[in-house]
Amino acid sequence: MSPYKNAFITGASSGIGKALCLELARRGTHVVAAARREGHLVELVKEIRSSGGCADGCVLDVRDHGRLRSALHEWDERVNGFDLVIANAGVGSALPGDALTWEQVENVVAVNFTAALATLVEGKQLMLPRGHGTLAATSSLAGLRGMPGSGAYSATKAGLQSFLESMELDLQGTGLRVIDIQPGFVRSEMTDKNKFPMPFLWEVERAAKVCVEGLERGKPVIHFPWQMSWSLRVARVLPRWLWRRLATAAKPEL
Ligand SMILES: NC(=O)c1ccc[n+]([C@@H]2O[C@H](COP(=O)([O-])OP(=O)(O)OC[C@H]3O[C@@H](n4cnc5c(N)ncnc54)[C@H](OP(=O)(O)O)[C@@H]3O)[C@@H](O)[C@H]2O)c1
Repeated sequence: MSPYKNAFITGASSGIGKALCLELARRGTHVVAAARREGHLVELVKEIRSSGGCADGCVLDVRDHGRLRSALHEWDERVNGFDLVIANAGVGSALPGDALTWEQVENVVAVNFTAALATLVEGKQLMLPRGHGTLAATSSLAGLRGMPGSGAYSATKAGLQSFLESMELDLQGTGLRVIDIQPGFVRSEMTDKNKFPMPFLWEVERAAKVCVEGLERGKPVIHFPWQMSWSLRVARVLPRWLWRRLATAAKPEL
């Protein structure tokens, strides 16, 4: 049984978010699954309920902060308090710097960074007076260094990681936990678009299981697969000239 009673998860209509909902619901958590595609949410809720779990769908665009805030508050009341909020919604941007347009960058920042922070801050407002709960977000191993071909994506994930690290420090002693989920490549609609080889690619069910186990143990950083995670953790301390040489040699075909 999961220690979490009620969870709010954004980006729940596909990929990692959907798998997190299924895994949490299987362990007894009531999940409120949020995303834009209503049909996908209806199917997910049906799947969870038909196997005896508890779920609801919440149609929203996370870039609409007013709607995000009211949905979180409204559902928090309906379920009698979230003890887990996961800012998971995200979009990719596999484009080299010279081909980037502001519209693409703006959307990646709005979804991956601004909306994720809005979700976490609103979740914190709800949980702080109750003195318990977990705030989590799906960042990425791509946030550990500036990756070739995904400047906007890497930047938003690095920013999200910094925010989570600061929040963890600031919320010590409040009863709230802050958890940074840092996946490597996981098969999903996002990565299905990639034409380059994705080393150590995980299936989404495996990723969700590791994430939920980490969330249950209250691990501050959940990172996988270990081969990619530790390579990038070493890469993080390399000097810029050496990173440039290695990253240029491994530059993906976009
Ligand atoms: N797959 C990987 O290899 C990988 C690795 C590291 C980190 N991640 C991160 O994991 C998270 C989930 O990605 P995924 O791989 O599972 O991709 P995915 O299958 O494409 O899922 C992305 C989710 O985000 C939602 N979303 C996108 N824009 C939204 C918006 N404006 N408002 C509300 N929801 C929105 C999508 O739902 P709707 O389109 O229905 O709104 C969908 O449910 C992302 O934050 C991603 O950066 C993924």
